Amino acid sequence: MSEQNERTSLWGGRFAGGPAEALARLSVSVQFDWRLAPYDIAASRAHARVLAGAGLLNPDELGQMLAALDDLEAACASGAFRPTVEDEDVHTALERGLLERLGALGGKLRAGRSRNDQVATDLRMYLRDHARGVAARLVELADALVEQAERHIDTPAPGMTHVQHAQPVTFGHWLLAHVQPLLRDLDRLRDWDERAATCPLGSGALAGSSLPLDPAAVAKELGFKAPAANSMDAVGDRDFVAEFLFVTALIGVHLSRLGEEVVLWTSQEFGWVELDDAFATGSSIMPQKKNADIAELARGKSGRLVGGLVAVLTMLKGLPLAYDRDMQEDKEPAFDAVDTLQLLLPALAGMISTMTVRVDRLAAAAPVGYSLATEVADWLVRRDVPFRDAHEITGKLVALCAARECELDEVTDDDLKSVSEHLDPSVREVLSVRSALAARTTPGSTGPGPVADQHAAAADKLDGWREWAIEKVVPR
Ligand code: ARG
Repeated sequence: MSEQNERTSLWGGRFAGGPAEALARLSVSVQFDWRLAPYDIAASRAHARVLAGAGLLNPDELGQMLAALDDLEAACASGAFRPTVEDEDVHTALERGLLERLGALGGKLRAGRSRNDQVATDLRMYLRDHARGVAARLVELADALVEQAERHIDTPAPGMTHVQHAQPVTFGHWLLAHVQPLLRDLDRLRDWDERAATCPLGSGALAGSSLPLDPAAVAKELGFKAPAANSMDAVGDRDFVAEFLFVTALIGVHLSRLGEEVVLWTSQEFGWVELDDAFATGSSIMPQKKNADIAELARGKSGRLVGGLVAVLTMLKGLPLAYDRDMQEDKEPAFDAVDTLQLLLPALAGMISTMTVRVDRLAAAAPVGYSLATEVADWLVRRDVPFRDAHEITGKLVALCAARECELDEVTDDDLKSVSEHLDPSVREVLSVRSALAARTTPGSTGPGPVADQHAAAADKLDGWREWAIEKVVPR
């Protein structure tokens, strides 16, 4: 290894020579953990103040230290300071930057802390900030769905189970059904943030410090609720990563299900939705093609989001306390989850808000497949026929219509009587999509009234998120 590495390595003292090339290449993480630099610097500022409070830095040294950290932060932001291949990780690179600015004084900052408590602190801070950024993008997607839903509060559509026509619904109801999981995801992110808000800094390598540090002051300065309760847990715990990845994996699953439906809706077979040109793609060989690639990528990217969760859970399983190097593998899946959602959510939001819903096609499809059969059974129930018999009678009527290749309301009065003495011509009153929808007035159901209520409630809930769901700036 070069002299440069020996100068900047954080652990060279007891070693006779530098690390083998193969080891250095395996263990280096700076290529992905560099994005933690602003958080590491913020934590360094807090640590410097605590060292000064403990009398381990005099006021002049503290002033120089904070000035150098500010300068380093600006140099990182502008790109004037960059990690080199010789820097093992973000902490090593930043110590080099500090030594370059302060000489020996730069080496004082490492007192009472370890990369183990630093990295756990940095990653918590990074994810807490970016959870809000992801939440902001989720709100935008939910907004797009809510706006489309508003246009289709009474647009009839063929509601499905098993991808078979089941009962008519309103398309607004359907779109709002995709908003509910996103609202739960937002709850999950904020709920996660509450648990992630404890600060590991002050735990050192695993045992805390013999120096008179002030973990509570550091926690407060860095925006945490409290310092960690147990230093071994603080450096060995990655629940906050696993839990974050569960939330992002579930978001991925929700986006994938929405994506799959858009793929279906935009197909020739359905033809319910037309995508805006700006949010669709073409084919290099077939000039007529218009593909829903955003929806497919939503479906496809759920794989990496679920995979990240599985990778981190598997990495953690069986790890002895406290810190183990395995844990370095926590960062790439966590960063990838953030990046993936930051990329995907705006594209989905744009696709949803600009799509055109083919109201005519939806309305025509709504009654197809005898989807009003339940109305007949319910009509019989209102005439005191037990549902078991009503189901049987309606089934016979459906079979008759299927044999004749006609709709439920196209049979004669005599045909109705031949199916059951309970059926008479007034049953035709319930055999329209409009009446089936209008009859659904209970809260949460698909009638235009309840859907308008759901729409208003969802819009209200989203408004309640706008304050929390914003990307936060790094504390200074
Ligand atoms: N790059 C390391 C990680 O991500 C930082 C902590 C290193 N600690 C150690 N004891 N080697 O986990």
